[in-house]
Amino acid sequence: MAEYRVKFFPMETMFSAAESDNLLDVAMRSGVHINASCGGNGTCGKCRIMLREGDVNSPSHRTITPEDYGNGVRLACMTAIHGDIAVEVPLESQVDRTALGRRREAPHILSPSDAGKLVAGMEIDPAVFKRYIKLPEPTMEDNISDLARLTRELRTQCGIHVPYVDFLVLKKLAKVLRAGKWKVTVTIATTGSSYTLINVEQGNREFENYSIVLDIGTTTICGQLLDLANCGVTSIMERLKSERDLCTLSEHSDYNKQISFGEDVISRIVFSGKKDGLCKLQEAVVDAINQVIDELVASAGIMADSISHVVFAGNTTMTHLLLGLDPTYIMRAPYIPTTTFFPPIRVTSLGVKLGDHVHAFTFPSVASYVGGDIIAGVLGSGMFQRSETTLFLDIGTNGEIVLGNKDWLTCASCSAGPAFEGGGIEFGMRAGKGAIEQVRINPSTYEPMILTVGKSKPVGICGSGLIDVVAELLETGLIDQKGTFDRNGKSGRVRAGANGHEYVLSYGPDTGTGRDIVITESDIDNLIRTKAAIYAGCKVLLDSLGVSVSEIDTVIIAGGFGHYIDLEKAITIGLFPELPLRKFIFVGNSVLLGVRLASFSSEFLKEVNEVTRKMTNVELSANPRFMEEFVASMFLPHTDERVFPKVMERLMGTRKNAE
Ligand code: FES
Repeated sequence: MAEYRVKFFPMETMFSAAESDNLLDVAMRSGVHINASCGGNGTCGKCRIMLREGDVNSPSHRTITPEDYGNGVRLACMTAIHGDIAVEVPLESQVDRTALGRRREAPHILSPSDAGKLVAGMEIDPAVFKRYIKLPEPTMEDNISDLARLTRELRTQCGIHVPYVDFLVLKKLAKVLRAGKWKVTVTIATTGSSYTLINVEQGNREFENYSIVLDIGTTTICGQLLDLANCGVTSIMERLKSERDLCTLSEHSDYNKQISFGEDVISRIVFSGKKDGLCKLQEAVVDAINQVIDELVASAGIMADSISHVVFAGNTTMTHLLLGLDPTYIMRAPYIPTTTFFPPIRVTSLGVKLGDHVHAFTFPSVASYVGGDIIAGVLGSGMFQRSETTLFLDIGTNGEIVLGNKDWLTCASCSAGPAFEGGGIEFGMRAGKGAIEQVRINPSTYEPMILTVGKSKPVGICGSGLIDVVAELLETGLIDQKGTFDRNGKSGRVRAGANGHEYVLSYGPDTGTGRDIVITESDIDNLIRTKAAIYAGCKVLLDSLGVSVSEIDTVIIAGGFGHYIDLEKAITIGLFPELPLRKFIFVGNSVLLGVRLASFSSEFLKEVNEVTRKMTNVELSANPRFMEEFVASMFLPHTDERVFPKVMERLMGTRKNAE
């Protein structure tokens, strides 16, 4: 892939770009401010630059006169780079020199196929496997039963002793053996230290052995279809580290249809108590699962009857609802789930449309608010194998936190609120088309530079945009550490609104809705509460074990949302502890990392229960220290300035410059 140089004037800083990279994207990731208020949609005309030299593809625009266009004026968001270029950032976009050229560090992002870099030593040895076997036909001398013949030959030919047999195998065994002329493929499931015969098919289907792994989220269901038979005997890690992940045949996500009955776990638990509520919720999630499976099978081009195994992981409430277990007592003190460990379940008994030999392994939970999704994350991220002290954070409506290493693990969950998913924020939204996801504010002019998902006209702000804008408002001094707006008329974009003072990110003519998009004091207050809950949860967990922030060696950020967070900004507002950026790792969907490893390795599957038993839950809702830490964290970044020394140094510098 060609690599080009992009030089920005007047700062004379140079950055690299790939063929067809968008110039506004390059500026954003390079820390060069260019005004942009339509999210890169090409409508506001604010992102004007002057092309000094080089090869780009950039159409003319109604806001650029033919004369200006002839002189090299272009819109950065409409400019694709095709060679080395030199670009002049116009005066209205320039920031003062102290803010120039600050570059974002490499984001430390690992994708699911990078799992091999996280977990060591597991071999491909699926818990559900197939064997093709040729049986001698019965004679008067050798007239033992069909089942005895099959198990005898499995023992003598394959060295596998199978003491247990699924009754459904018995019902079809006589016919299949004879129709297959005594050549059959058996499917065997590892159950603890023993084996169970779960299926028998005619002929050789040994190499058609697939599994489906599913992350059952409150909002989204993500699934992968894995090839268990053709991964050879290489280590999982070698396999997953290869250029193309040959083990994953397809991947698909869809909304959890339970959303129509409530957005979060509490509203779903309440709904489950209504007449037929539990039944409707179970049908909704199973319906969504069936759709995901249909897509996975169709895009992989395999026969659905060759799927032998399913692995589920979800939070405790989602797991209860999927299995049709009453979740009522999860939300009532003392917060008791029906069970934390789940037996293998025949998937057809749930309504999942797969063969009746297929059983599901469900990841166990630790407590009502620390579920199988977190266990999958801890396993998939390799945290359970690390010697160093690791903090694992999964941020959603609930902040789930695990602290530990290979010897000990402690966990906690705190209600973070829905701010990062758009809840309680006037223009909040999930990270869909038109969501403002990155924001920079010029510290001299206070003009914003915003980027939206899909470069569409902005329609709202998603979680990462919210973190960015609050951090930028703080750093430019437009808000103070309590989140209160400057009332001295520093910026024309700060004004009194219906919900207190607000900052206009994008004016109506530039937005997709025709309305001004603003961030209000009440939005900022909600964000402060959310980040305070997460930080306080981490602090209580650290204190309960006598571990200081500086003793944390690695911070693993899980969850799809985590990918898009700007680490520096998240530290600036006090969401994450102030640690060197190199200590942070984003693992994306850590639940998928865990479920896929459990499907590939029976060894790993055993670890799941071990790790769950090892984990100690610290209940925060009953912990007075949590409330103290929460109140102390209700400040940007924190009331104790000593725990965020670098952020404070920067903020003091900004204040001095402003004076
Ligand atoms: Fe480029 Fe609006 S026109 S950001």
